[in-house]
Amino acid sequence: MKEMHMRLALSIFMVMFFSGVAWSTTSIPYMDATLPIEKRVEDLLSRMTLEEKAAQLTQQMIGRNDNPNNQEYKKQSFNPYVGSVIYFQADVEKRNTYQRKALEETRLGIPMMFAYDVIHGFRTVYPISLAQACSFNTNLVEQAARIAALEASASGLDWTFSPMVDVARDPRWGRVSEGYGEDPMVNAAFCVATVRGYQGEDLSAPDTVAACLKHYVGYSESMAGIDYAYSDISDRALWETYFPPFEAGVRAGVASVMSGFNDINGIPAVCNSFALKEVLRKKWGFDGVVVSDWNAIRQLKNQGFSSDPLVRGSASLKAGNDIDMMSNIYMKIPEMVNAGLIKIEDVDAAVRNVLRLKFRLGLFERPYTSTEDMAERYLKKSYRDVAEQLAIESAVLLKNRGILPLTKRTKIFLAGNLLSDKEALLGSWLAHGNTNDVVGIREGIEAYMPSGTKLVPRPAQADVILLCLGETKAMSGENGSRSTLQLHNADEVERYEAFDKPIVLVVGSGRPIAYQKLEPKVNAILHLWQPGVEAGHALAKLIFGLENPSGKLAMTFPRSVGQVPIFYNRHQSARVSDKSWSGLYQDIESTPMYPFGYGLSYTTFAYEKLAVDLESMEATVVVKNTGKRAGQETLLWYVGDPEARITQPMKKLKHFEKILLESGEARVVRFALEPGTHLSYVDASGNRHIEPGTFVIEVGSLKKSFNWMGE
Ligand code: NOJ
Repeated sequence: MKEMHMRLALSIFMVMFFSGVAWSTTSIPYMDATLPIEKRVEDLLSRMTLEEKAAQLTQQMIGRNDNPNNQEYKKQSFNPYVGSVIYFQADVEKRNTYQRKALEETRLGIPMMFAYDVIHGFRTVYPISLAQACSFNTNLVEQAARIAALEASASGLDWTFSPMVDVARDPRWGRVSEGYGEDPMVNAAFCVATVRGYQGEDLSAPDTVAACLKHYVGYSESMAGIDYAYSDISDRALWETYFPPFEAGVRAGVASVMSGFNDINGIPAVCNSFALKEVLRKKWGFDGVVVSDWNAIRQLKNQGFSSDPLVRGSASLKAGNDIDMMSNIYMKIPEMVNAGLIKIEDVDAAVRNVLRLKFRLGLFERPYTSTEDMAERYLKKSYRDVAEQLAIESAVLLKNRGILPLTKRTKIFLAGNLLSDKEALLGSWLAHGNTNDVVGIREGIEAYMPSGTKLVPRPAQADVILLCLGETKAMSGENGSRSTLQLHNADEVERYEAFDKPIVLVVGSGRPIAYQKLEPKVNAILHLWQPGVEAGHALAKLIFGLENPSGKLAMTFPRSVGQVPIFYNRHQSARVSDKSWSGLYQDIESTPMYPFGYGLSYTTFAYEKLAVDLESMEATVVVKNTGKRAGQETLLWYVGDPEARITQPMKKLKHFEKILLESGEARVVRFALEPGTHLSYVDASGNRHIEPGTFVIEVGSLKKSFNWMGE
């Protein structure tokens, strides 16, 4: 008891000692919260030894490494001098103990940052990012990221390695699940929403975490969809496709960026000064932190860059990579300086970025995480509500031959691996997600089935078979590349086909699935992705018509893996037939199975009167709900530029908006055209051009050409 009081007194003293109040009167400028951050950074930097600087640029780990793909380290001893750690636990007391060591057992008492991969929720796991994009609801995604930040910050984290904004066009690549699909603009929009959600209005507030855009840049273009492989990307493709989401995140004030594992055109991302310095720092004015990916500097050896750690480390630091995650090579910075490989200015530039982030996070004023209200921090009702709504809006109804929703009295036979595999419902990167928190499919169905509807034990007794199949958790995510896009357990469909009952197929996956063979065998397909903790409720509400599906695909679903890469915003072909996707292959129908933007509803929408007013530079269209029930519709506004000196994709998504229409309701929807953003294109050096001429605007089923002659 006495000991407890002593400890309590000590911690109160520590909190006061390091609080802004105590330090605002201090004579040590870097501890003076009233001074501008840059002054504090310079003061602290001027007091640091080269060894202390090297340690600030080093990131290690604490706890058991819970990601099998994070190779080499199971455990690491704790060094209080390192600038940041990956913290695999959610134990706040422990976290504060480590922080105390950083403050009390080091010369300058620089607090450390605790980081972790919080990708789609911390404990309240919500749908994977690819699913989120299909909701086309940025507000909802911002709310979800906010919840992740609340739970993560309450668990001692200052920093999450999220969002991943790698535009992804190869569904063989398992990490398509972690990003927002194939379109740069969609990735940019969800990037901004997520950064806002994590970072809030004020990064120094106790309930925010620093976001991290990854993997800069072009990691998703790994050859043949194989994770960690080489990426060969033209400069134009970088500017047109891969840079834009990162630029949007930087403009939204993101605190950090992670350089990728990939080798881009011969210069690996971690030491690519064009990407890191020329573009990120100089062109976009980024003043946050760049962290490497796990062990990436060490892995430069495998990529054939150099076998000398000093060369690898110095190349990365000089290129603008500030923090070395896990390879410990930056600890050798003093040797690199002595060997003349880097200058002290290179080191200082990186240390400034790290210190700046720590000041922005308010860590010098509030180094410890509160241990109050610990029992209350997770899975609040309001958090679950957001997770459920997002799961509902992310699901995409791909086929419905008049069977859904199941509103009449029905005898349902439930089948499929998703009934028992709750981990598959959470998906990869589940942070501190727990299968016990997941509302399973049976549970959800039982909670919402209409009276008179019942579950039966044998398929032969059923009116409908609800077959819930899905990829297991390990089939997508990091190191989850696959050479086929068929469901691994697709033969289950054939098994149930034998009963000659209508089949509603519910599918969970972390990537697009090739449905060509399955589609004719089932009456409906609801693509649920990996929906998170509210899986069962979300599914049941959709199946029984309490909610109306509104998700649209953010990534094209091919018929066959042989069509990959297949995405909507491809460039035009020399032969006109390509414009309609026809005749590309001899052996299969060339169209996608389900294109980008596809998704059915229980109601129908009609588009009419598309018009462009060149005086006001405004496009308008009338959308009408022509069905019998209310529903949400996402308007996807595309612009095509069919004649340009640098040829353009057939169309590019420029704007989207999700609206709710009651049955019979019609609404005029507007899109303000800004020539600089919507009618321009970028060249191989990143310069924007606006070429007056013919453009084509497209929304819903309508298209219209217009001549814009310049401003
Ligand atoms: C490797 C992954 O590529 C990256 O996304 C992740 O943030 C790190 N491991 C840390 O877990």
